[in-house]
Amino acid sequence: MFFFNQLMLCSILLAAPLCATASQHLHHSCINKDCSALRLTVSNPPVNLWDANVISEFGDFLESLDGQNKTKVVVLASDVPAFYIAQIDLNIITPGALPGVNATEVLEQYYANLNKLSAIPVIFIGEVNGRAWGAGDEHLMRMDMRFAGPQAVFGAPEAAVGLIHVGGMQQLVGLIGPGRASEYMLSAAQVGAEEAARIGWVNSAYPTAHALRVHVDKLATRIALFHIEVIRATKASIAARGPKLKDFQDDLVRFDALAAMPFLSKNVGEILALSNNQSLQWELNNNDNVVKGLY
Ligand SMILES: *[C@@H]1O[C@H](CO)[C@@H](O)[C@H](O)[C@H]1NC(C)=O
Ligand SMILES: *[C@@H]1O[C@H](CO)[C@@H](O)[C@H](O)[C@H]1NC(C)=O
Ligand SMILES: *[C@@H]1O[C@H](CO)[C@@H](O)[C@H](O)[C@H]1NC(C)=O
Repeated sequence: MFFFNQLMLCSILLAAPLCATASQHLHHSCINKDCSALRLTVSNPPVNLWDANVISEFGDFLESLDGQNKTKVVVLASDVPAFYIAQIDLNIITPGALPGVNATEVLEQYYANLNKLSAIPVIFIGEVNGRAWGAGDEHLMRMDMRFAGPQAVFGAPEAAVGLIHVGGMQQLVGLIGPGRASEYMLSAAQVGAEEAARIGWVNSAYPTAHALRVHVDKLATRIALFHIEVIRATKASIAARGPKLKDFQDDLVRFDALAAMPFLSKNVGEILALSNNQSLQWELNNNDNVVKGLY
């Protein structure tokens, strides 16, 4: 695989220019000297839509981490202003909207990626300074830690779209508790950085993008000092208290039942039309716009 070869070259040569172009939408850079802590920056402007290409590239990246013993910490960041990661490209689940794209296959890869974030013995840190809608938040929920900057906004539009936040629901309940999860999930709320930090959706919030980066880099570098066996045992021990694969599979049954309802395809069609195909202006306040537009 092309991407894997680039990563291997990165590790062998520690060649920064090569490392910076690991794949089309995901850029890879070293945080510490031996690159055991690295940053993966998502770059799919204008809104970092989680589309079929990004899902595939992210799958390749996760596969490159499987079975290796060098990378200890991965920070997932964005270089798209005002956005961390938006929702999954709704065209994927609209029959015929993307010729040649097999929705079933793409969704299988999407879920496999989420499950790998939980299962791969590498520490994943979300560095969020922009909108994290739907897919963006589901990925954050599957990481080990999350930190927010002033532009971070978190939210699951799913209830308004006609679905559940399938890939992150159980983890969110664990982080903020059932009462708050009910409030935020059932209302498709938009949650800012300070509020997210207060309730535990993220670990902490920082007043500037710079302060956020300094904290994340220091933390990643410090974790990466320690023995990989210790890092792996700690992740496994903490996961023992967390949601199980079976909990996610039960949610997937709930999600698929909703996805088969006639209102779902009607809502998705209306959102694609109203949003002018998920345009920047719409995405800035995606959840509120879905609620205003559809209800
Ligand atoms: C990683 O370490 C394990 C256990 O020490 C070993 O079995 C495996 O071959 C190593 N993988 C690589 C790619 O070096
Ligand atoms: C789409 O992908 C699924 C799952 O990989 C596969 O079973 C199915 O045959 C594919 N459909 C088409 C039309 O290629
Ligand atoms: C809508 O946006 C998607 C994702 O950016 C793109 O692949 C698709 O071609 C667009 N469709 C139309 C009709 O513009």
